[in-house]
Amino acid sequence: MKRCLIHDIGRIEGLLDADVTFLRGPEMESMQGLSDAWIYIEDGIISSIGSMTAPFMGEVDERIDATGALVLPTYCDSHTHLVFAETREKEFAMRIEGISYEEIALAGGGILNSVDKLRRVSEEDLFQRTLKRAKEVMTHGTGCIEIKSGYGLDVESELKILRVARRIGRETPLTVKTTFLGAHAFPNEYLENTEAYINLIIDGMIPAVAKEGLADYIDVFCERGYFDKHQMERILLAGKEHGLRPKVHVNQFSSIGGVQMAIKNEALSTDHLEVMTDHDIEDISSSDTIATALPACSFFLDIPYAPAEQIMAKGGILALATDFNPGSSPCSNMNFIMSLACIRMGMTPLQALAGCTINGAAAMELSEHHGSITPGKKADFIITKPMRSLAQLPYSFASDPISKVILGGGIVHQNEGY
Ligand code: NIG
Ligand code: FE
Repeated sequence: MKRCLIHDIGRIEGLLDADVTFLRGPEMESMQGLSDAWIYIEDGIISSIGSMTAPFMGEVDERIDATGALVLPTYCDSHTHLVFAETREKEFAMRIEGISYEEIALAGGGILNSVDKLRRVSEEDLFQRTLKRAKEVMTHGTGCIEIKSGYGLDVESELKILRVARRIGRETPLTVKTTFLGAHAFPNEYLENTEAYINLIIDGMIPAVAKEGLADYIDVFCERGYFDKHQMERILLAGKEHGLRPKVHVNQFSSIGGVQMAIKNEALSTDHLEVMTDHDIEDISSSDTIATALPACSFFLDIPYAPAEQIMAKGGILALATDFNPGSSPCSNMNFIMSLACIRMGMTPLQALAGCTINGAAAMELSEHHGSITPGKKADFIITKPMRSLAQLPYSFASDPISKVILGGGIVHQNEGY
């Protein structure tokens, strides 16, 4: 058995009881803290937590000095498109010149640009490119991550992406969940026959993905010019027949009934939610479907932010994620998500932490073992640089707050000098 002690912790944030798997509405303020503390770990699992006034006396194999800083649970980033071939900074420059994200997409850029690039890259090459990003993700303090397909849009290319995503889960210390997003856009070869593409998703892609066990969830981009709510439902039902629970993109640019259709189909989460009617807010907040806000996408595209304060006030379960992708959110940094949540969405530091940890874990069905500092859960921690309180992390918005990242009790990243 490997025994490890993290000692001289200035303050632990993100403590929860073992039976709490998500936090709803006002409960999002309720993660607890403990000052001057230690955490004892056995074989990568949190065994006990105590105060430095009663130091841990048992024998240990490894000691990690937290030097009076904060210890937090690692982030649970429940919405990313980590597997892509190339960045899209040309489109970024076009947007600065005044051409909109939607206009760029209509002109053949956007998602279809990424599809074109990805189809030309071999699976091994795609894995190596993704691996670099996965390592960067860990340096920012993320321990669990959801990864979507959606830049392949043909059977082989979608399978290729999901195989790469699964391999990231096997070959890095990250805990990975995967989502099949064949319904991300209509590919060029089906632009004149969108019905045939939907049939390909239902009859070709979903069975192939399920046969190889490549996905945990099914996603659809429900939006004007992409998939309407009825098309979404057909695809979700086909996915559900193969054991894939819905986790969907809705209300990014328009409110077209996606929220209600997702709830009806027992979606685990509805993600984006930048454009919401009062009814949408009411419906998502009173449902068991998690509302996932993606503030880096709002920041990067300069579009509205999801109405987090209203969703929390009405009792919704709010999660926060990066939406890391080459078009609308080239950001893998959950520390920045913490800052945006506080600065742009009116969330308190504790609410933002709950959104980035336990509720993100819930949005990947991982909260039994991840998403908080709780005996019995995985020993996944961020040790910060010297910091007086949790608020200092989102406050220091463009600096790296991390000293060490620990996953399963092992250090996976350490900043030099800390
Ligand atoms: O979540 N909105 C749909 N999909 C991605 C962006 C895709 C892209 O621009 O490549 C998103 O924002
Ligand atoms: Fe997305």
